[in-house]
This record gives sequence, structure tokens and C-alpha cells, in this order.
Amino acid sequence: MEKATFKSSIGTFAAVAGSVVGLGNIWRFPYLAGENGGFAFLIVYLVVSLLVSLPVMLSEFAIGRSQRSNAMRSFKQISSGPWFLVGFLGVASAYIIDSFYMVVGGWSLEFLRKSVMNEFAGQTSEQIAEGFNSYVANGVGPVAWAEISLCLATIIIILGVSKGIEKMNKIMMPTLVCILVILVINSIFFLPNSQAGIDFLFHPDFSKITFKTLLTAIGQSFFSLSLGMGAMLTYASYIQEKEHLPNTAFRVMIFDSTIALLSGLAIFPAVFSFGIDPSSGPHLLFLTMPNIFQQIIGGRFLSIIFFLFVFMAAITSQISLLEVVTAYASEELKIKRWKAALGLFFTMSITGSICALSQSDLGLFVINGHTMFDIFDYASSNYMMPIGGLLIVIFAGYVMPERILHSQLTNNGTQRPLPFYYMVIRFLIRFVSPVFISLMFLNLIGII
Ligand code: TRP
Repeated sequence: MEKATFKSSIGTFAAVAGSVVGLGNIWRFPYLAGENGGFAFLIVYLVVSLLVSLPVMLSEFAIGRSQRSNAMRSFKQISSGPWFLVGFLGVASAYIIDSFYMVVGGWSLEFLRKSVMNEFAGQTSEQIAEGFNSYVANGVGPVAWAEISLCLATIIIILGVSKGIEKMNKIMMPTLVCILVILVINSIFFLPNSQAGIDFLFHPDFSKITFKTLLTAIGQSFFSLSLGMGAMLTYASYIQEKEHLPNTAFRVMIFDSTIALLSGLAIFPAVFSFGIDPSSGPHLLFLTMPNIFQQIIGGRFLSIIFFLFVFMAAITSQISLLEVVTAYASEELKIKRWKAALGLFFTMSITGSICALSQSDLGLFVINGHTMFDIFDYASSNYMMPIGGLLIVIFAGYVMPERILHSQLTNNGTQRPLPFYYMVIRFLIRFVSPVFISLMFLNLIGII
């Protein structure tokens, strides 16, 4: 069977961009930047993305495109040792992240519905908060919407790599950018006192930049660029030979950071113009934002497009997570893609529902006071992703034959945009990334 590919350069870019742009850009980056030195944090973020994260992305790209196989088998084909376990860890992480990501995708659908029906109209901030908490505590709604979100993702996966994933991202990514631009323009120009929000995001405070901030920036950049779990590797197995991988990776990184910044510019001027304390995570998106939309002119329309934006960011990431597992299941079990996707739909329905229900007041699926949702989130971001990322760069830098890396990163020696550029990338993969990822991991688990 011929291996599926993304058909165009634009489609390739859109698909990879769809994977990396997600909730991390919207609910985490702007807050981290504001809290950790504003413009100063941004500079640190860009530098570590370039020096630590990009080498990981290129390692995944090189492994995936050279082997044209799923995350586990790609490692197996290169080395007979236990390295295939790294690929397997990736598949497991993707599965776990998807289980709670689909729940958040579901929340955004419910909030989209509420916005369309104008259900927030006239509600006070207490009522909005109470509405979200009781919605989550009830359990039925979150499970139903998570299933719908999963169902949509499964349909795209079944449509295929080019006709499903590539095509959908080619439509969704430009739409997402347009919506974001409208939101930013509204926030900056039409809200009173928007300057306070812009200051929060950009005011440079270099005194906030400590070693820990640096490690926080690496963690955020890693998560935001979907690294360490075979997602980039799996998509790379669909990238055509003619594409220049470092070029794609670099553009994706710039795009991802731009979306994160624009999200900050859409959200924080609004937050500050209503004198609300900034926060991050679900609280910001699902409690603060609806409250703000209540108070501005055109709020209903803005609220609709805002939750559409959140949903699109979430579903395109969800699809890439699902693709990691689908590619693995269909290739390893030698079954058709649609059968693998359908099988996964059923298992993922169960794990997704477990995550959703763990937050309900039924008190199910809670271990030592931690919900399954939180446990999955914590385990995947703090353990599986950094360990996966570390092992991937070590593999690409020391285990994989160097000719693979060289031919993948230079298109067989034909593309060298800058002198020494391959040597620099290889140096980063072998010496810089492993050290900083290890430090980030120790920081995440609280040792340093
Ligand atoms: N990058 C995504 C975000 O910013 C989250 C994410 C982490 C992800 N790992 C992934 C998405 C793997 C797709 C595949 O929200």
C-alpha cells in the first residue's frame, strides 16, 4: 500500500501548525508571559524555542520522514534495540493527552452553543461561574460534548491524511487567524483602558528572568510545539521529500509564537479593561471571558467567534493526537485506517468519559483527591513529554546513523541555506537540547 502524504507545502504547513496551535497558546502562554517579565520573557521564549525545542522538532521530523512509519515502528526500523519503546511511550502519551483534550474541546462546544443561544445574556459574574461549575459537576453535558468533539475528530481521521487532515487544516487555520485578528482589533481599539492589558503582556522586566523562568519557558515551548510524543514524528511521515524540514519547522515555530502573542492581545486588554485579575487555564477561558463579553458592545458576536476560535485550536490538536494512535494501530494491527479509527473511537470514548466524569460531583475516578483529568494532565506534561523528548534527541544525535539526519535536514545535501547550518543543528541536538531538557524535567518534578 502506498504511504499517504500531504499533497502541498501549504497543506503541510497548515497541518503541522494545526497540531501545535492549541490551548497552550491561548490559556497558558499569555499568562506566563505577563507574570514572568513580559517582553523579556518573550525574548527568552524565542531563544529557547530556537535552541532547545527546534532541535527536538527536527529530530522527530528526520526520524518520521526517513522511515515513513508510525512512531513505534520508525524507531524499530532504525535500531534493533529497545528504542522502539520511546515510540511506544509517544503513542501512550498521545492517547492520554487526547483523553482530556477532548473534554476541553467539548467545553468549548458547549460554550459556543451557549453563546449562539445568547444564554449568557444578563448573567452576573457569579452566575457565569456558578453555571460553569455546575455544568462540569453534573457530568452528563461534559461527557456528551466530549463525545461529539471526538466524533468530529474521528470523521476527519477517517477521511484520510490528505482529504481529511490536510484539507481541514487548510480551511481551519486561515479562519482561526482571521477570527483572532478581529478579536485583537476589538480588544486594542474598542475597549476602554486596553493599554493596561498591553502593558501586562509586554512591559519588559528583566529582573523576573531567572534560571527557573528559563526552564518554565522551555516547558511551555515544548508543550506548545507538541514535542516529545511522536506527534511531529507521525506528521513528518506524511511530508514529501521535496519539503525542506528546517524551513518548515522554523516557520511553524514563528507561527505558533505569533498566535500565542495575538491571543494575549485579544484576551488581556479585555481582562484589564474590566479590572479583572488575570489568570490562566480553564478559569480564564470559561469564567472570565464570558463575563467580559457580557459587558461589551457586540459581545454576543464576539463570544461566538471566540469560542469558535478556541474550539478550532483544540480540535486541530486533538486530530493530530488521534492520528499518532491511529497510525500506530492501523499499521501494527494491519487493519484499515477506518477500522483503527473506529476502534479508537470506542476506547477513547471510555477514557475521555472517565476524565470528564472524574470532575463531576459523583466522586468517581478520583485518586487521593486528584481527578483522573488532572492525573492524566500532570503525568503527560511533567513526565511523559520531557522523558520522550529527551530520549528522542539522544536517539537522533547518538543512535541513529548520521547520514539519515544529514540527508533529511539538507535534502540529500542539496539545501544549505546558511554555512555550517547542519553542523549547528547537529550540535544543538547532541549537546544543548539534552542538557536543557533534563534540567526542565528536574524543574517540572520539583527537584530544582
Ligand atoms: N501543542 C498543543 C497546545 O499548544 C498541545 C499538545 C501537546 C499537543 N502535545 C501535543 C497537540 C501533541 C497535539 C499533539 O495546546
